[in-house]
Amino acid sequence: MLTLLRIFFRSPAALVGATILALVFPILVISTFFDLQGGIENPYFSLLIYLVLGPLVAVAFILVVAGLIRARGDDNTVPYTYEFFKRQLTSPASYNRVRRLVYISILLISSFLLVLGIVAYSGHRYTDSMQFCGNFCHIMSPEFITHQNSPHSRVSCVACHIGKDVAGIATAKFTGLKQLYATATDTFLRPLPTPLDNLRPTRKTCEECHRPEKFHGQKLYVIDTFLPDLDNTHVQTAMIMKIGSGGYLGRSAQGIHWHISEQHQLFYGTATVDRQEIVRVALTDAAGNRTVYFRKGSDPGQIKSEEHLMDCIDCHNRPTHIYLSPDAALDQLLLARRIPVALPFIKREALIALTRPYPTTQKAVAGIDEQLRQRYLTNNPNRNEHERDLIEQAIRGVQQAYTENVFPEMHINWGTYQNFIGHRDGSGCFRCHDGSFVSAAGKTISRDCDLCHIILAENESPENIVEMMHSIRR
Ligand code: HEC
Ligand code: HEC
Ligand code: HEC
Ligand code: HEC
Ligand code: HEC
Repeated sequence: MLTLLRIFFRSPAALVGATILALVFPILVISTFFDLQGGIENPYFSLLIYLVLGPLVAVAFILVVAGLIRARGDDNTVPYTYEFFKRQLTSPASYNRVRRLVYISILLISSFLLVLGIVAYSGHRYTDSMQFCGNFCHIMSPEFITHQNSPHSRVSCVACHIGKDVAGIATAKFTGLKQLYATATDTFLRPLPTPLDNLRPTRKTCEECHRPEKFHGQKLYVIDTFLPDLDNTHVQTAMIMKIGSGGYLGRSAQGIHWHISEQHQLFYGTATVDRQEIVRVALTDAAGNRTVYFRKGSDPGQIKSEEHLMDCIDCHNRPTHIYLSPDAALDQLLLARRIPVALPFIKREALIALTRPYPTTQKAVAGIDEQLRQRYLTNNPNRNEHERDLIEQAIRGVQQAYTENVFPEMHINWGTYQNFIGHRDGSGCFRCHDGSFVSAAGKTISRDCDLCHIILAENESPENIVEMMHSIRR
């Protein structure tokens, strides 16, 4: 025992390591135990355990081992080197003593490694958790909030962003460390750049749950809108969406999901890294024939990117981080009655209040409150209780429309992140389907309004839409 102590004092590294171990290791064991029990909710607690204490103990352990091996012995202080053990083990006199020492060391070291293993595994799970991704790392709170409001709120961040293979996990942890550093030093970009290059979900990831060859046929889509008039008139647009399929059981691919059929490959080259401005489209069909389309009047030398093979994300780039337009956000809340339709002109007034520029979320929430109060109460101070109730509800609803879609702290405003489904402002499908792509043989990528959907009725009252459905059945 004394010998051991003496060695420690001769090796500063081992001494430091041993001191840290003695202090931190018990804390680590106890706090990991509590964390695994789920006793403590604070995300900073897990952060402390897994990203500070865990690595610290590992480093201390390495210090001790390295220090012990390096410490050169004289007659009094015998170092625990290979030669030492060899000498001891071959001398019958000390054999028993050493054997005990070896057993004890093996027991200690393996229980230590076991604990460290548990810590490392829970640390891995913790950094994979939605809590860590979205909550702790506050710069991702826009992604977290939009995710919570999306159809994929039950799908974890890592299920989409990190493949199941080891390489994917390793890349992710490495990228994660860089991000943690950027967060700590406040050197990240605002808004976070898109499209992603490292953590972009792959087609394989989506196909863990969705099988494009399976969704076929046409579906009725009904889009609800409220007009900015006195009654906030509710109207609907009904269209048959040609969902199509990637081909199934010998049937060939058709409709919208024709693009991702296994039978052909569709590549495109862009003039901008954000994939907004597509310049060339190349289609290789099942027989190997290649058709290349160029945007009229564009210069092929403009193409900056490598060729992208079209996948799900080229259309579904917002399956979960869905930022709505002010119009769409209000329509959803009016439909859900979070904003009362009975309040005259509320759609119009809400739009005005929502689309003003605000420097922070807090100022926006206060500003919306103030403007709507002024609009509805200043000239009519004698509103009855019911009306006041509606106004309070409306204020909360419009604030919600803002806080779910705009994040001034991250420089995310209305329209910062484009959705490629549909064709708002000539984006999305119209990046290729705007009628300006022509092949050498004179073939054009279609802009025909009936190619993707058949509009049955546009901005009609819900009663008329129902009537129309019945007349189709007759
Ligand atoms: C259903 C799959 C899915 C889930 C679940 C998901 N994401 Fe995403 N995420 C995407 C896609 C798709 C993109 C856009 C990729 C692109 O355009 O390259 C994206 C983009 C991002 C971006 C870049 C900024 C942007 O909006 O383009 C961040 C940051 C991000 N996700 C974080 C998260 C976090 C944090 C979670 C969990 C709270 C999460 N993601 C959950 C699919 C997903
Ligand atoms: C872990 C399973 C899972 C993964 C992975 C997944 N999804 Fe989904 N997705 C779902 C579920 C479940 C729903 C249905 C949610 C509902 O109807 O409430 C859904 C719904 C959808 C919808 C319909 C949304 C709507 O508005 O009705 C689209 C489009 C979609 N997913 C695309 C994608 C894309 C693109 C990816 C890959 C980036 C992906 N999903 C990855 C499970 C998943
Ligand atoms: C060419 C663009 C495009 C590509 C590529 C694409 N989709 Fe879609 N997808 C759409 C459109 C458009 C819709 C219907 C409109 C909407 O959902 O808003 C749709 C609908 C869906 C739906 C809902 C289907 C239903 O029956 O309601 C799912 C799920 C889906 N896509 C998954 C995928 C997956 C998975 C991939 C990749 C393997 C993929 N999509 C590739 C454009 C595309
Ligand atoms: C990268 C370019 C590109 C984008 C983006 C794109 N398409 Fe296409 N699409 C094509 C090409 C090329 C064809 C085939 C043209 C041909 O050979 O006639 C096609 C064909 C189609 C067809 C006809 C498929 C069939 O049955 O033959 C539909 C429907 C369609 N696209 C819908 C969409 C929708 C919806 C979107 C947006 C969500 C979209 N496309 C986005 C390139 C694109
Ligand atoms: C390449 C496919 C494609 C073509 C061509 C196309 N659309 Fe669309 N359109 C879509 C998709 C996909 C949506 C659904 C967007 C969504 O889910 O929000 C849509 C939505 C719409 C909507 C309702 C929602 C909105 O954004 O207002 C209208 C109206 C519309 N299209 C009109 C047209 C007209 C008019 C044409 C002809 C010039 C046309 N579309 C051509 C794919 C297409």
